[in-house]
Amino acid sequence: MCGIVGYIGEESAQDILLNGLKKLEYRGYDSAGIALLDDEELNVVKEKGRIAALEAATNQDVTATLGIGHTRWATHGAPSKENAHPHQSHTARFTLVHNGVIENYEQLRNEHLANVELKSETDTEVIVQLVEEWVHSGKTVEAAFRHTLSLLHGSYAIALIDKENDDAIYVGKHKSPLLVGTGDGFNVVASDALAMLQVTDQFVELMDGEIVIVSREGYAIETLDGDTVERGPYTAEIDASDIEKGTYPHYMLKEIDEQPAVIRQLLMQYQDEDGRIKLDDDIRKAIRSSDRLYIIACGTSYHAGLVGKQLLENIAEVPTEVHIASEFSYNMPLLSDKPLFIFISQSGETADSRSVLVNVKEKGHSTLTMTNVPGSTLSREADHTLLLHAGPEIAVASTKAYTAQIAVLSILAVDAAKAQGIELDFDPMKELGIVANAMQSLVDQKDVIEQMARDYLSVTRNAFFIGRSVDYYVCLEAALKLKEISYIQAEGFAGGELKHGTIALIEEGTPVIAIATQSHVNGSIRSNVQEVAARGANTCIVSMEGENDLDDNIVLPEVHEHLTPLVSVVPMQLLAYFAALHRDCDVDKPRNLAKSVTVE
Ligand code: M6R
Repeated sequence: MCGIVGYIGEESAQDILLNGLKKLEYRGYDSAGIALLDDEELNVVKEKGRIAALEAATNQDVTATLGIGHTRWATHGAPSKENAHPHQSHTARFTLVHNGVIENYEQLRNEHLANVELKSETDTEVIVQLVEEWVHSGKTVEAAFRHTLSLLHGSYAIALIDKENDDAIYVGKHKSPLLVGTGDGFNVVASDALAMLQVTDQFVELMDGEIVIVSREGYAIETLDGDTVERGPYTAEIDASDIEKGTYPHYMLKEIDEQPAVIRQLLMQYQDEDGRIKLDDDIRKAIRSSDRLYIIACGTSYHAGLVGKQLLENIAEVPTEVHIASEFSYNMPLLSDKPLFIFISQSGETADSRSVLVNVKEKGHSTLTMTNVPGSTLSREADHTLLLHAGPEIAVASTKAYTAQIAVLSILAVDAAKAQGIELDFDPMKELGIVANAMQSLVDQKDVIEQMARDYLSVTRNAFFIGRSVDYYVCLEAALKLKEISYIQAEGFAGGELKHGTIALIEEGTPVIAIATQSHVNGSIRSNVQEVAARGANTCIVSMEGENDLDDNIVLPEVHEHLTPLVSVVPMQLLAYFAALHRDCDVDKPRNLAKSVTVE
């Protein structure tokens, strides 16, 4: 979603800000802008659309060494140049960028800004106008900033500059991510460390309700109440090369290809020298002392959670529920006596999940976050963290994080089983190694899957995925992948549900892709395929060695039946990728979507 960058130092800020914004493009946005301050001269450029349009509109002669930049994902007001950030106060003294949502902006506008003509439809503009109001009423800039933030309800990450002070960026944060990066003679601000890795790997975490004044020589953190906070930087352990595409045409393809390596990486991270599972003892205790696990997640992470439930219940006999975060917030089920909440989130920043986390923490429940981003909000705020070790995932469509989530859940399930003395008839780590090899053989068959995309998805307006048992959960993920990047209307269905309504949608040529990896439902899913074929569907069967028929379209290499989602999803990801490519869609940055969904 929206992204913030800021730079104050000795170099020309423009290039650093534009590069930083490019690194944030993956989060999703629909307009962008920068503000540069040079000797009280302010240069603001905003454009609807891509950073390239913004870059084309900038003046290369501006050599300002202080600036802020923003990518906007529209919430209040359409994507437009007027609504793009930065926003300015009516005298143009103050300029501000903001991520998040101000819930009481209308009330603030009515109460305090009746005489100010606003130029945009955004909630953000109210913030910068309020700062100006309080400065006019006699407050110092810092006091005006502090007072403004204290009035805001909702979420924000803010960077503000003052035309009359070229040695400060005023920063504030509540619920939306924001970091200060430090360097020699310069400092930066970023909503994501990736944006500023070009100049530093030293970052300072900010907590909710803190404000920071960032200058060339340092930064001063205070709470909104004015208490000083001492906090030093940490080293962001991200390899800058991990966020480059290299020779790949798209991040999504690179990330699909990385999956075998991610599984091998997880084997190293979660295994000790003797081949035993390596897990934090506190996490083991948290699981052992709970009577029910509640997995909370959104989108693809929710789909991984569904597979996780199956693993935890089938392997470890641990009762597990899976909930969509945005539903759970408003429709909480009756909880067991000793629940453990597991938040699955690639980004660790998803606002819907965070809202549940805040809520259940207030009730005193135990919490664990499974995330790909160390130091992310959900990771910091939960009692425990399990890392996915997948490396930065840049494409909006999640691929390697999904398989990493399932792999970590399988390790958790096996560990929980062992803790209870349940005898397993398989060696989980060896089986994950077999999965990595199977994934490799699938990513090596891109030509086969590209042809499948041509055969089944080139002209259709819809597509259905059917499966039973755990294959059904993979169908949900396959459909999400396809719809989000190719815009083909795609749905995943439980095979048994077809005759209860869905089969009415089948027409001559409707693509129906069946996943058939589970022996106990193999016969039934194949019957479902016959049923839709008899009504004209263009059917395709993805099965697994040992469960396959001779004319199945794709036969996956055999892996342990608990782990089949890790491999059956790979051709589905590639299918979505090629379908989107054939339709000239923006594979990595699909319309209307954001990588990190930081508003509820
Ligand atoms: O960062 P998270 O895992 O919390 O994100 C949750 C969803 O927004 C995310 O999985 C989304 O569904 C993906 N874009 C799907 O590919």
